[in-house]
Amino acid sequence: MTSETLTLPYLNPDLAVPARVADLLERMTLEEKVGQMLQLDARDDLDDHVLRRMVGSILHTSPERIVAARELTLQTRLQIPLLVGEDCIHGHSFWPGATIYPTQLGMAASWDPSLLEKAARATAVEVAATGIHWTFSPVLCIARDLRWGRVNETFGEDPFLLGELASAMVRGYQGEGLEDPTAILATAKHFAGYSETQGGRDASEADISRRKLRSWFLPPFERVAREGCRSFMLGYQSMDGVPITLNDWLLSDVLRGEWGYTGTLITDWDNVGRMVWEQHVQPDITHAAAAAVKAGNDMIMTTPAFFEGALDAVAQGLLASDAFDAAVERILTLKFELGLFENPRTPVDGLEQIVGTAEHAELNLEVARRSLVLLENDGSLPVSPTATTRVAVVGPLADDAQEQLGDWAGGSGQAGWLDGQPREMITTVLDGLREIAPWEVVHARGADILTLEPDPAGATWPDGQPRPPVVKPCAPDAAQIAEAVAAAEAADVCVAVVGDAQGLYGEGRSTATLELIGGQNALLDALVGTGTPVVVVLMASKPLVLPASVSRAAAVLWVANPGMQGGRAIAELLTGAIEPTGRLPISFARHAGQQPTYYNQIRGQHGDRYADLTQAPAWAFGEGRSYTTVSYSDLALEEEALAASATIVADVTVTNTGDRPTIETVQVYVRDNVTSVSWTDKELKAYRQVALAPGESTRVRIELPVADCTIVDAAGDRVVEAGEFALLVGPSSRDDQLLSAEFTVT
Ligand code: NOJ
Repeated sequence: MTSETLTLPYLNPDLAVPARVADLLERMTLEEKVGQMLQLDARDDLDDHVLRRMVGSILHTSPERIVAARELTLQTRLQIPLLVGEDCIHGHSFWPGATIYPTQLGMAASWDPSLLEKAARATAVEVAATGIHWTFSPVLCIARDLRWGRVNETFGEDPFLLGELASAMVRGYQGEGLEDPTAILATAKHFAGYSETQGGRDASEADISRRKLRSWFLPPFERVAREGCRSFMLGYQSMDGVPITLNDWLLSDVLRGEWGYTGTLITDWDNVGRMVWEQHVQPDITHAAAAAVKAGNDMIMTTPAFFEGALDAVAQGLLASDAFDAAVERILTLKFELGLFENPRTPVDGLEQIVGTAEHAELNLEVARRSLVLLENDGSLPVSPTATTRVAVVGPLADDAQEQLGDWAGGSGQAGWLDGQPREMITTVLDGLREIAPWEVVHARGADILTLEPDPAGATWPDGQPRPPVVKPCAPDAAQIAEAVAAAEAADVCVAVVGDAQGLYGEGRSTATLELIGGQNALLDALVGTGTPVVVVLMASKPLVLPASVSRAAAVLWVANPGMQGGRAIAELLTGAIEPTGRLPISFARHAGQQPTYYNQIRGQHGDRYADLTQAPAWAFGEGRSYTTVSYSDLALEEEALAASATIVADVTVTNTGDRPTIETVQVYVRDNVTSVSWTDKELKAYRQVALAPGESTRVRIELPVADCTIVDAAGDRVVEAGEFALLVGPSSRDDQLLSAEFTVT
């Protein structure tokens, strides 16, 4: 840089950010502005991205390419630093040796915002040190159809819980503010309604009204927008015929208008190109680029042809030459706020002291412990191992380190530069059970799950992206099952680790069925048939349907994809070194045909069951067992007639009636007895987590503003309607477990 450029106002850190932005914007050519709006895939031709298209941002950057990209930036005229983005979804997903936590759905089972904030903070510390400034996390989609491949990326099915946890993660990522060198930009995605798929098909048209959006899908986004989440990613899908990328109502009226959002909007992967080749709502890239700019998109992810398309749109008079200024201003503002012009935040020295540290492993272990949900237990758990106890550890997921990490991790395939995380950083269930006690551990695989075959329709989509392979379930293998049965028969207890695997979840990988596939059902049937107590450890990205034989299993534990420390946490739980405290953030179906099974469905249908099956889920939202028993009694309201401006104050006695400690999640639902428009029968409005020693009893106080007891009326307005309500308090969303106290809003 010459001494002349050094004196340029935009390079002067003493000037206010708006002045620096204005100065730089004035110096930029049309091409530089269009390039600034582009985020391209760093695995492609970096020279072309940075030197010819002058991109503002890159993603999917291997460690080496972060440094290479920075060097290329220094060859550009204005040397505008790149924003480097990555999917750091449950930890620093694609960084070799980074800490990988349970998936977002697994973390959600802790119901503990402070723990998630800590995990996000620790992730930000690792991510920021490696030269990445922006994570595309958290996901605020509501998971309702379990067939959808991306359920594992969500916080589950409830908007209130989701808002609590998303807000915590955003705080953790963004820390004290972007100027903090350990802060990274958080992204609320996928705005909005992306998860409301047709038949679980990924990115299909979401059939969802504005009223329903306002009722359930938008509130978590509104919360993080108002709390300062600095970027929003737009969903792939269209709603009512309009791709989100062009949804003026959602982007301008609601997000930037009503909520006053001033952050950045980024499209999802090739949203602009997809309007041409996938959704067929734009004739060519020129029109698609013009429409995307007019709709207020700031950063265009991985549509390289946006560059030529946008320039062509100006040449054809579809866009004015200053049409890009607002978007570029917003992107530059982020870069100045992050301090990238002074410190481009490339990888720091001594990364091994920061990434994948013992301290983060300890936090990860705590997150994993809290994420485990005990669904059934006939009293066989916890097991007390002695030197003569024999445990058979069987199942295809008992010792598969990379599968344990799930989607968006080293082995999940989105990044080409690593195919797994270091084996020694991961404790599988087999490792954990071997390490936890000097008992006799026998291992047999028992079954395979699947093989992957190329899609006969071709290797790539029209945009050149690879098509996901097709899943072929493995047939049950008699010899494998016989070996596992022999191990179980000779054991005092059998731990069977079954579930799903790469290929059955993720983007573009929804499933038609929810059953365990491959040889797993036959394996479970055979194991249960041995008479040895079988503990089913369901290591599944999302709720699955278990075979009938599992009703005769000794216990069922759902562990999601529990991250690097998962096996240790599971071993601790099975042997009683820790207590099971996780609660379901999402309901489990009995059959795929029950979809959707979420608890807060709208009232009104003929009857309440299918002719051939109940509609009740196998396990409902909020459920989860402890090793102790907890009773709820004496729910009492301070006032039963309340004004809309008042606060509901109630107390409930919660007693640990068993002989083990626990953390009880006291759940508070509200039922509005009569509503002007159809509404859900009850909604989670608050919860408290209380530690209870054996025998301990405590009065738990609940304070809930009446203003939270809203519905969205026919006009789309969120209102409290006067009338009769019930406050429902208990350990889960199941009606038979909830105490009820009636109150009136006057
Ligand atoms: C597409 C996914 O939908 C989105 O969640 C992700 O952040 C981007 N690809 C970038 O990898």
